[in-house]
Amino acid sequence: MANSLPVLRIGKYSPRYPLIQGGMGVRISGPSLAGAVASAGGIGTIASVGLAVASDVYDGRNYFEANQIVLKKDVEEARKSSGGGIIAVNAMVALTDYDLHVRAACEGGADMIISGAGLPLRLPELTREFPHVALVPIVSSTKAASLIIRRWEKLYGRLPDAFVVETPLYAGGHLGVTKMEHVMDEALSLESVIPGLVRYLDEEVGEDIPVIGAGGIWDRGDMDKVFSLGARGVQMGTRFASTLEGDADIRFKQALIDAREEDVVIIKSPVGIPGRALRSPFVEKYLEGTVESKPCFANCLSHCSYRTDRQAFCIAQALVDAFRGNWEEGLFFCGSNVARITRMETVEEIFRDLFGQE
Ligand SMILES: Cc1cc2nc3c(=O)[nH]c(=O)nc-3n(C[C@H](O)[C@H](O)[C@H](O)COP(=O)(O)O)c2cc1C
Repeated sequence: MANSLPVLRIGKYSPRYPLIQGGMGVRISGPSLAGAVASAGGIGTIASVGLAVASDVYDGRNYFEANQIVLKKDVEEARKSSGGGIIAVNAMVALTDYDLHVRAACEGGADMIISGAGLPLRLPELTREFPHVALVPIVSSTKAASLIIRRWEKLYGRLPDAFVVETPLYAGGHLGVTKMEHVMDEALSLESVIPGLVRYLDEEVGEDIPVIGAGGIWDRGDMDKVFSLGARGVQMGTRFASTLEGDADIRFKQALIDAREEDVVIIKSPVGIPGRALRSPFVEKYLEGTVESKPCFANCLSHCSYRTDRQAFCIAQALVDAFRGNWEEGLFFCGSNVARITRMETVEEIFRDLFGQE
């Protein structure tokens, strides 16, 4: 018998179920997936990264402008299918045009900004004109959370509306550590971080700020474990990436469905941090040192080892190739539990499996 569910309240938003579908770029979680999750009673998240390239608005020269146009359009589209549910935008601090993504998300009508891949230290300033938009940093430690809190309190008199704690041990995509050897550091497990962060928020900050766990969560048993640590919600990515409603090409979804545990590798991304992905032919060549990158087209990252010294590869091109289902040339991000995907589920099936009739 499953335990009773915690109530998740983030700013003025309270989803029916304490579940966020994590933002997955490039366009793995677009308006179709986010709208379906919101409609099912979770928080649906659009990943803002690289939307221009995966659209017909981009003409080869207007990358930054096109990103904003497409993001606003995507939020509106997700809203239409959300049944009045909650739509978030995931914006990565590491992006050159981060400020513009945040602004476009707010103008497009997002309810919430979820922000990681760096510390979102200026987020309250960027959203000042949109006080109803809830702000949720993604962190991997209490130290990072306390840095954000001190800065936000001092400069903006505002606190985060929630924290997502994402563990590098199991999560998909970029991982919140700088060194490869820290990816499997038990000190960064949800079991180690969540109780300490909950205590810190409760006892030292003295505020009711919910903590949401992410990384390696698949079924109700996993969720209940994370709730027992003091989390009031979970964020899940990989299981939603290959759903019927997922925005990626069917071949992206099939690659995840076909993946076995031994196909998952950790690579050093051009962003300068490790990432978890499938060992596609592209990744294989990168690991062997023989990869040939497509050109950098937009300086999309504030730090990129490919742009500055031609190390690694253009990650935007590789992620868009994955979104298009190009197995040979794509970078297919995934979490460590990708082998548990055995078929294409619908969002509703996942919610029924997780929550039954609750
Ligand atoms: C394909 C893929 C792309 C991702 N892209 C992003 C992203 O753009 N921004 C971000 O903050 N997290 C990203 N993530 C992380 C997810 O939002 C989520 O936190 C993570 O996948 C949770 O772990 P799980 O996959 O084990 O459920 C990505 C994950 C995957 C699988």
